[in-house]
Amino acid sequence: MPFTLVEPCWPDPSRDTELAVNHKVWLIEQLVLVAAFTLTVGKLSRLIWVPWSLILFMVLLICLLSYSWLSSYTSSLYWDCVLMREHKITEQPMKAARAGSIMVKEAILFFERSRHHEGPFLLFYSFLHVQVPLPTTKDFIGTSKQIFAVIDDLGLRNHTFVYFASDHTGYVAMPSMVDGVRYTKPPGAQACYETQLCQCVGKNVTYHDPPLLFNLSRDPSESTPLTNDTEPLYDLMISTVADALMEHKKSITPVELQLGTELNHERVSLKSCCGVFPFCLCDKEEGEGNIMRSSN
Ligand SMILES: *[C@@H]1O[C@H](CO)[C@@H](O)[C@H](O)[C@H]1NC(C)=O
Ligand SMILES: *[C@@H]1O[C@H](CO)[C@@H](O)[C@H](O)[C@H]1NC(C)=O
Ligand SMILES: *[C@@H]1O[C@H](CO)[C@@H](O)[C@H](O)[C@H]1NC(C)=O
Ligand SMILES: *[C@@H]1O[C@H](CO)[C@@H](O)[C@H](O)[C@H]1NC(C)=O
Repeated sequence: MPFTLVEPCWPDPSRDTELAVNHKVWLIEQLVLVAAFTLTVGKLSRLIWVPWSLILFMVLLICLLSYSWLSSYTSSLYWDCVLMREHKITEQPMKAARAGSIMVKEAILFFERSRHHEGPFLLFYSFLHVQVPLPTTKDFIGTSKQIFAVIDDLGLRNHTFVYFASDHTGYVAMPSMVDGVRYTKPPGAQACYETQLCQCVGKNVTYHDPPLLFNLSRDPSESTPLTNDTEPLYDLMISTVADALMEHKKSITPVELQLGTELNHERVSLKSCCGVFPFCLCDKEEGEGNIMRSSN
């Protein structure tokens, strides 16, 4: 789900109607196209007699339908809100209300597949609902409990380390999304309150060299960096990190910088598409709305 937690992806109450209308328009357009083609061939081969004006009218209708259909595809709903499995888009636009349930099902299947493997495995699971207020469904409530239940069912509890973090990006404030909620900057806070999204390049980024080290057992909020004086292993850790970084840098081929506003502007031609561009509309998760396992 590369870019789905942005505002246009909120389920718009008109979306279902919009999608249904689009499907109908496409169907009507295909029918008119076939009819116009058949009539033209029939007329040219003198098998049937129809006035050219009727064929012209049909062609105009096709143009009009195409225009109405195409213009709905300029909405960022289609371009930005996609659900992917591996490298394939399975929903475009994503249906936010059921995305959470689909992801839980994937997580459960992953556990079931992985327990047959030798050795450890890692599941990284981002609950969509942790970051921003999303609509939920009755099925989704209690799904974190369900993931824990699977760990228990498969007898993995005593060998599983669960690390829960409350967010997964540097997005700190969305005052417009929840009525009455206003985030204010607490004194001494270091989050990206002014820019909302933490930036990756430019003047607003602080580079730490050597990197800051924290002991997460003692200081989970990362408020006090370790120093040479407070941590006997400080020098060893810093040099280990530096060596690993150098090793890693040697292994990568330099490419042109891909971050920053210069290169990152919107280009529709580069957006993900699950159909034939620009008709990007698919729903391969259909029928999976009610996929939750019962948690008894
Ligand atoms: C997990 O550990 C607890 C406490 O040591 C023990 O009672 C329980 O039987 C263990 N469960 C499994 C599945 O090994
Ligand atoms: C840095 O953040 C400020 C807001 O605090 C913003 O006005 C400015 O444009 C940002 N600078 C850059 C280079 O992004
Ligand atoms: C981190 O803190 C814990 C708890 O105080 C301590 O047991 C551990 O040794 C510390 N780790 C390091 C690398 O200093
Ligand atoms: C840390 O302390 C050691 C000796 O106590 C010193 O050799 C080293 O340069 C110090 N490192 C830093 C980063 O200050």
